[in-house]
Amino acid sequence: MNTVTIRASKTYDIHIGSGLLPTLGEEAKGLGKARKVCIVSETNVFPIYGEAAKQSLEAAGLEVVSFVFPAGEESKCGEVFLKLLNFLAENKLTRSDLIVALGGGVVGDLAGFAAASFLRGIRFLQVPTTLLAAVDSSVGGKTAIDLPAGKNLAGAFYQPSLVLCDTDTLNTLPQDIFRDGCAEVIKYGVLYDPQLFAHLEEKGLAFDRESVITRCVELKRDVVMEDEFDTGARMKLNLGHTIGHGVEAKSHFGLSHGKSVATGMAIVCRAAVKNGLCDGETCDRILNALKEFGLPTATDYSADELYTYTLSDKKRSGGTVSLIIPRAIGDCAIVPTPVETLKSFIQAGL
Ligand code: NAD
Ligand code: GLY
Repeated sequence: MNTVTIRASKTYDIHIGSGLLPTLGEEAKGLGKARKVCIVSETNVFPIYGEAAKQSLEAAGLEVVSFVFPAGEESKCGEVFLKLLNFLAENKLTRSDLIVALGGGVVGDLAGFAAASFLRGIRFLQVPTTLLAAVDSSVGGKTAIDLPAGKNLAGAFYQPSLVLCDTDTLNTLPQDIFRDGCAEVIKYGVLYDPQLFAHLEEKGLAFDRESVITRCVELKRDVVMEDEFDTGARMKLNLGHTIGHGVEAKSHFGLSHGKSVATGMAIVCRAAVKNGLCDGETCDRILNALKEFGLPTATDYSADELYTYTLSDKKRSGGTVSLIIPRAIGDCAIVPTPVETLKSFIQAGL
């Protein structure tokens, strides 16, 4: 097992390794004071891991209630959020009790926002069960729900008290969803770590999970400790996301987040080469890695369409959109791009 410690507005550990789920009860108990725990999960994950989580918590002397909602992004909404808050109130959880988020990013974002809101904040543990959640959403305290006007429009920065990443849970993840998480893993290599990127190039999908997840979490730790509230350095984590969100929104969320981010990364790389910001060899390495992991690098959408949907993303600030541009593997720049030039930039990358 590896442990990474985050020191931000809250200090907490992230444990990563095989066979960790049965230790959930002792870990939760070790946080002190809790009597009751609410497991928040969804209909795909709870049937596989719910019982093991419950047993471990009960064996540690904790009373357990479970809130299970239909799997899928559609559940990350106001209605399910309010249902969850009412469930916590009906079950009389107190400020010393705990929420356990057992699932992927959807569970973590929803349960985290409920934890931030219920009684003005109760402690929560993240138990990520997707690769994306392990390397990204469970770490760093961004919590959110979607509104009819757009994704992640209501939320809070609220750090968990512990993250328990049992790499065995990834064994039941459908391959396609595992690949989606790989887009985020490749992103960390491109942003910060040539050695990690080279490891991914060499190993492909057979990369060592425990060490690669740990490395990604260490890289995210550094970013979160520098810029917890996303006003500067944390923006770099948006590599591929700004135009990727345009792709995702244009597909009406038919194309997954990971594949949209991969497409966004590929568009930005090609456009960066045409604009003299990145060399061709770096771009080719990134495109080849994405292909090697079975991720898309092209889209049929036009520059006009992508421009419109990219502008509706919340990452726009006044008249500029901050694009994250790879200059070399491990070296990316935040480039504020005026909206007037965004369309031609996207066109260059198609
Ligand atoms: P998800 O939670 O919907 O999980 C993807 C699919 O995998 C679902 O069908 C789920 O039921 C299934 N699943 C999860 N774990 C499983 C397992 N171990 N075995 C079998 N099936 C399993 O999606 P995700 O990709 O994990 O997360 C996407 C969400 O995360 C989005 O809502 C996105 O906005 C959010 N996100 C948040 C942050 C953040 O910093 N808070 C960062 C990135 C993404
Ligand atoms: N997933 C982006 C962030 O945590 O900032």
